[in-house]
Amino acid sequence: MMNTELTRKLNIEYPILQAPMAGGPTTPDLVAAVSNAGGLGSLGAGYLSAEQIRNAIREIKQRTDRPFGVNLFVPEQPSTPEDTIANMNDYLNKYRMEVGIAPSTSIPKFVESFEEQVQAVLEGYVSVFSFTFGIPSHDVIQSMKQQGMFVVGTATTVDEAIALEAAGVDAVVAQGSEAGGHRGSFLPSTADALIGTMALVPQVVDHVSVPVIASGGIMDGRGLVASLALGASAVQMGTAFLASIESGAHAVHKQKILSSKEDSTEVTNFYSGKAARGILTDFMKNMHFYEGTIPAYPIQNALTRDIRQAASKVGNPEYMSLWAGQGLRLSQDQSASEIVKQTLDQAYLLIKSMGNLRE
Ligand SMILES: Cc1cc2nc3c(=O)[nH]c(=O)nc-3n(C[C@H](O)[C@H](O)[C@H](O)COP(=O)(O)O)c2cc1C
Repeated sequence: MMNTELTRKLNIEYPILQAPMAGGPTTPDLVAAVSNAGGLGSLGAGYLSAEQIRNAIREIKQRTDRPFGVNLFVPEQPSTPEDTIANMNDYLNKYRMEVGIAPSTSIPKFVESFEEQVQAVLEGYVSVFSFTFGIPSHDVIQSMKQQGMFVVGTATTVDEAIALEAAGVDAVVAQGSEAGGHRGSFLPSTADALIGTMALVPQVVDHVSVPVIASGGIMDGRGLVASLALGASAVQMGTAFLASIESGAHAVHKQKILSSKEDSTEVTNFYSGKAARGILTDFMKNMHFYEGTIPAYPIQNALTRDIRQAASKVGNPEYMSLWAGQGLRLSQDQSASEIVKQTLDQAYLLIKSMGNLRE
């Protein structure tokens, strides 16, 4: 056991949360393996339909009777002009050619219905509901809480954490700039905020009274102990689990993570219209030459989807989104339970040896 306010509230053994990762990595096997190992697994359901969410929840429950979470994206209604979208769609045709697919003539569907996704989560009776990209309505937060769910929001600045606490969340993820994947930033003034985990966590801890979950660049027991020292009640690790055996990340994505270095990632909005950290690809390099405006999320995400999918099919990493955090050099292709166990073993050893520091 490693007791913190959060482990007590969530009824889990260890303050290790596996980050929800939409787009395939967080398979029912991964979520259940982390929960069964005493941490908290979490399904990244942002891109799933209500039916897919119901199925995934059922599959997770077949594999574990421990608590786990489901994560959704708070929807945004961007007001990108039609011609900005059309120009980008035309421009992307040269990449479609590169990956061997036909030019696009129509604009695809942007997102799944948030209301239907919420309904599927409510019906799933899961322990934790987490979200990113904003704050859902009062009604959504309250209905999750009435169902007995523990509600977690994502902040990248102190102001966002304060806004989340005021909206009634039970805990806040403090997502530092090292983090892989999309930035959870949602206040206009913080769109470009890139505060590192080391600086962000203690400042958030000082300004909210709910438990804080440190996220971004935490890969092992050292990161766990450091986060607890900064006042966090748990860690949320994404990249550390991305290359795990149970992860559903593409084999090429896993291989890239295992062979890349701490300076291999960049924050880009070229794939989705929203800032996200991933391993630098030819697509990211080439898109710098685009002179127009990048449509906002989720429009750009929908426009590049066919390119990313075609690249995945043939295993061409240069046109895939290879989300990963700055700690990627510490990744290992182990099972999820080994990652949880090693993280804990290392943390216990560290805590013990730190007890000798004053001698
Ligand atoms: C591939 C990938 C997908 C992600 N998808 C989500 C998501 O769906 N929802 C979410 O709240 N965070 C998502 N994140 C961010 C994580 O919650 C977390 O902040 C991040 O992984 C922490 O940094 P680390 O990767 O260095 O551990 C994603 C991260 C990655 C790497």
